[in-house]
Amino acid sequence: MAIDFKESKTRENLMRAFAGESQARNRYTIAAEVAREQGLFAVNQVFLFTADQERAHAKRFYDLLKNLSGTTIHIDGGYPVDHFDSVSELLKAAEHNEMEEYEDVYQNFGDVAKEEGFIEVASAFYQIARVEQTHAKRFGKLACMLENNQYFESKEDEYWMCLNCGHIHKGKLVPEVCPVCRHERGYFIPASMAPYFECEFIK
Ligand SMILES: [Fe+2]
Ligand SMILES: [Fe+2]
Repeated sequence: MAIDFKESKTRENLMRAFAGESQARNRYTIAAEVAREQGLFAVNQVFLFTADQERAHAKRFYDLLKNLSGTTIHIDGGYPVDHFDSVSELLKAAEHNEMEEYEDVYQNFGDVAKEEGFIEVASAFYQIARVEQTHAKRFGKLACMLENNQYFESKEDEYWMCLNCGHIHKGKLVPEVCPVCRHERGYFIPASMAPYFECEFIK
């Protein structure tokens, strides 16, 4: 059954998603500041580039609402308060929210869009859901490493990369400062994070 977009649940879900992505972006920039204040510059970078990806998601959903420009869409929704001082708490909260989007919210929004006949919107929800899963894994892995003191040290030889200059360090412990650019150790990120970036920065 063809549904008028102006009357659809899908337009409301797009607005809910736009609101959710917009808030995620702001939460991550705020979390990035906390990480920076605690000397975790690489975690700061991860929050910031993920925030930019949330903006891209928000833009995609907003673009799909373009035909309704000049109107107002009223929605209700629940949004998290994750204002923690601990970086690992911030990461775990982010992981939880991303998983919720991936497993539940965007699958449901995608199904509704499909039922209502908005195939392009449905595929945007399903595709972005998959990205949210990668966000969840990345945040979860970082939280786990911080909580288990595996972020700056490892039982086995490990590779780390300085995100400031790209220097690769091999060893069991991250040096206090990068021997190349002299930036502090918080700029290093473990190479075991590489799969969670869906790219290989080290072979
Ligand atoms: Fe997103
Ligand atoms: Fe995300």
